[in-house]
Amino acid sequence: MKFIQEKTNNTPVYLVHEESACEFKPLRRVMDSGVFKGKSGETYHHLLEDGAMLFIGVGPKNKDTTESLRQAGYHAGVALNKANIDKANVKFNTYNDIPQHQALRAFMEGLYLSMYRFDKYLSDKDPLTLKEVSFQLKDTMADWEAFTNSVGIDMEAVALTRNLINEPARVIYPETLAQAAQEALEPHGVEVRVYDEKQIEDIGMSAYLSVAKGSAKPPRFIVMTYNLKEGVAPLALVGKGMTYDSGGYSLKPSDSMKTMQSDMSGAATVIGAMQAIARHGIDRPVVAVVAACENMVSGDSYKPGDVIHSLLGKTIEVDNTDAEGRLTLADAITYVTDNYKPEAVVDLATLTGACVVALGDLYTGMVANDEALKDKVLAAAKQVDEKLWAFPMDDAYKELNKSQVADLKNTGGRWGGAITAGYFVGEFVINNTPWVHLDIAGTAFLDKARDIYPFGATGHGVKTLVALAKK
Ligand code: BES
Ligand code: MN
Ligand code: ZN
Repeated sequence: MKFIQEKTNNTPVYLVHEESACEFKPLRRVMDSGVFKGKSGETYHHLLEDGAMLFIGVGPKNKDTTESLRQAGYHAGVALNKANIDKANVKFNTYNDIPQHQALRAFMEGLYLSMYRFDKYLSDKDPLTLKEVSFQLKDTMADWEAFTNSVGIDMEAVALTRNLINEPARVIYPETLAQAAQEALEPHGVEVRVYDEKQIEDIGMSAYLSVAKGSAKPPRFIVMTYNLKEGVAPLALVGKGMTYDSGGYSLKPSDSMKTMQSDMSGAATVIGAMQAIARHGIDRPVVAVVAACENMVSGDSYKPGDVIHSLLGKTIEVDNTDAEGRLTLADAITYVTDNYKPEAVVDLATLTGACVVALGDLYTGMVANDEALKDKVLAAAKQVDEKLWAFPMDDAYKELNKSQVADLKNTGGRWGGAITAGYFVGEFVINNTPWVHLDIAGTAFLDKARDIYPFGATGHGVKTLVALAKK
């Protein structure tokens, strides 16, 4: 999409508040008639004697937020494409005291999000016509090129993440996920190393391999590095990369299994974030790792009751083969904290249904071992309007992961499941590295469209990681 900073004669788009006392006649008439009230989500395509123009509701005045402007951008994009318009001119005002570049960024993000489709398997595609949006601004912006590029980088990363998640498991399995990471990242200067099953065994990641061995599709351990520098501790990211989660012998019911291609959302999120971080040229070393595999049922699968080993050396009782994500994350997090001595490590995982029970599909859940890092991640999320909620930090939760036959067991019982799962992963962080765990089980993938998010992958988390890398 092309963004231009000037007034043009292309289809005008007006952002309209609810109780707008506008003198502009065509709008006054439409509002007086009551067909358009300026409510958020409302759009009106005016085609009468005044020429074509579009009114976009932004809700009540003085209640503007970057989120309401993102929604306005989204609805403007939907309406413009529906009306087959290719070029539009947005009359962009000031909104509360939101700095113009922030308001504009949110609006542009909304436009991008309105253009996202995962329609490659549909014969009947919904066409996109919008190519260019010009903005009539209050204050001229000096850094327009850099600014619009930077919005594009983030939104293309979000689309990359969404595409990887939405692809069925027939297409994205460990080997193809690794290839996708190489294709998406190497052109931007990220080094991608892929380890095969034999090499994973040599490293000693036996918890990860216990999960992987039940699948006909071999695992791939993916290590992505950007801008590593001698003597500077990198930021480390870890993404759960379960390209399919059937539950294993603790089999999932078919309804819950159906969307489990999305169990690699954490991996897709760190891959998208790495792409954006590299394209922004962020001056910080970053390493991201993904222990990709499938959790399947076969004669070779691990079983409930097994006692397995881990890279760190702690033994684990397998209480439930469907609690597989924490086993793969355990080894990945030991690997990255041991080998890269990062200043901080953030893992993202569609880890527990319990997190969805607690927070719904609105908030990502957080477990952390470090207040300062926790606050940093919360601030990063807030800055980009991604909802994030911290669970309590309390080592008493660790008791629930104890086993009678091994050092740990892979479930913490019925209550507080999102927290005990997080604490389990935390047991495998070494060198006391500050660590934050983000459970995106609810936010990564929607079973049903919700306001500006379509059915399927959201890309939630990508912007938070990019903002964190910038801090
Ligand atoms: N991948 C699932 C969690 C999940 C659930 C993600 C719903 C997205 C939507 C995870 O591997 C899992 O199955 N967790 C179990 C853990 C339990 C057995 C302790 C769960 O939440 O039921
Ligand atoms: Mn599972
Ligand atoms: Zn899973």
